[in-house]
Amino acid sequence: MRLSRYFLPVLKETPAEAQIASHRLMLRAGMIKQAAAGIYSWLPMGFKVLRKLENIVHEEQVRAGHIPMLMPTLQPADLWKESGRYDAYGPEMLRIRDRHDRDMLYGPTNEEMITDIFRAHVGSYKDLPLTLYHIQWKFRDEIRPRFGVMRGREFLMKDGYNFDVDHEHAMHAYNRHMVSYLRTYERMGLKAIPMRADSGPIGGDDTHEFLVLAETGESEVFYDSAITDLSLGNRDIDYDDWDQVALICNEWTKPYARTDETHDAGLFEKVPEDRRRTSRGIEVGQIFYFGTKYSEPMGATVNTKDGEKVPVHMGSHGIGVSRLVGAIIEANHDEAGIIWPEGVTPYHVGIVNLKQGDGEADRACEDLYAALTRAGFEPLYDDREERAGAKFATMDLIGLPWRITVGPRGLKAGVVELTSRRTGESEELAPDLVVDRLRGIYAGHL
Ligand SMILES: Nc1ncnc2c1ncn2[C@@H]1O[C@H](COP(=O)(O)OP(=O)(O)O)[C@@H](O)[C@H]1O
Ligand SMILES: [Mg+2]
Repeated sequence: MRLSRYFLPVLKETPAEAQIASHRLMLRAGMIKQAAAGIYSWLPMGFKVLRKLENIVHEEQVRAGHIPMLMPTLQPADLWKESGRYDAYGPEMLRIRDRHDRDMLYGPTNEEMITDIFRAHVGSYKDLPLTLYHIQWKFRDEIRPRFGVMRGREFLMKDGYNFDVDHEHAMHAYNRHMVSYLRTYERMGLKAIPMRADSGPIGGDDTHEFLVLAETGESEVFYDSAITDLSLGNRDIDYDDWDQVALICNEWTKPYARTDETHDAGLFEKVPEDRRRTSRGIEVGQIFYFGTKYSEPMGATVNTKDGEKVPVHMGSHGIGVSRLVGAIIEANHDEAGIIWPEGVTPYHVGIVNLKQGDGEADRACEDLYAALTRAGFEPLYDDREERAGAKFATMDLIGLPWRITVGPRGLKAGVVELTSRRTGESEELAPDLVVDRLRGIYAGHL
């Protein structure tokens, strides 16, 4: 992409309505525009990041054996009357009446709809285990939407639902989700800590929330610092291996980590003092096992091997995809702007031409642009007639992790400059070496 042809409406002023860094930076970097309270348009740069996160979520879900599909945003109220949640859900549910006077709603979640699909098509234990998921917009009429996309009213969520023959199988599905979520966040450059949670209105027995540590988080969190040293790295994971998956879950759930809702001061005391941490966190996902809470009232049953008819054991598992954009920025920014982790950056590298219109500089930039594109990178070339300072400021604001600076003086010496947004460190290298250098940097992320 060339900046001269892109749509990147950056703001010079700091928007007064934005209280936290991610909201400010998303507005300033031209990623989103508010349409109504808690409802946003995703401008091209924001949309690009959102799509990247969606892709990572899809890849990790499919890797875990979960099956993508798509359910509508609008749902008939009847399904929710069957489960008993139509009245229970309260004013957060946006209720709509269509022209035939039918009660509809904009889905805040999809347990009822997926259970209805399941009961219509599945009747035997032989069709299990089954986990279906989708990534779809949700609407919750939050009383106080705030912090931009972090607490919106309309937001993008991955929600997945497992159907299993009994509690034991459903717990493997639960563990599988935990591990696939850990991988997902790790690829996004995030440390998200699973914390034992309260089940809340969805109801259930086993549930963990995943929290990203950030000063601006809405939850208070208490944890053993040992948990932040854990990482999956390049481990080979066989999602059908119950023991391997359970062992990974053990590793992550053994160290103490809880939100204020489930915090147990007595247990926390047992953590060695030098490892006790109190902080704040952003909830970026949650997994639930809730057994037969929906399958029983809605009649989602299967016949077992012995010919017995039993309600299926279910769980639901969510990732806040649009919230993650904000959470990643909260965890990765500085005074000058965003600092995208390599796994989610909207463009891999920025090219800054210090002297637009200079034949040699222009040619060098074009050559780099072509070579990078051929190698599978997406460069963003600032080819505007702007001062160098303004170009640097834009690059710092939008946060591409790497910048190539090209100018007549360097070219005379046979070099361009490669700068890390995170460390600010630069190295000079021959233009021919840039592609290889970036290949090394982006290994595993392209
Ligand atoms: N209002 C919201 N705006 C943005 N993301 C949200 C919102 N509500 C929930 N999410 C995201 O969706 C994920 C799954 O939702 P869920 O756990 O059902 O929500 P909640 O924790 O509010 O009950 C949450 O972990 C969070 O990341
Ligand atoms: Mg939650």
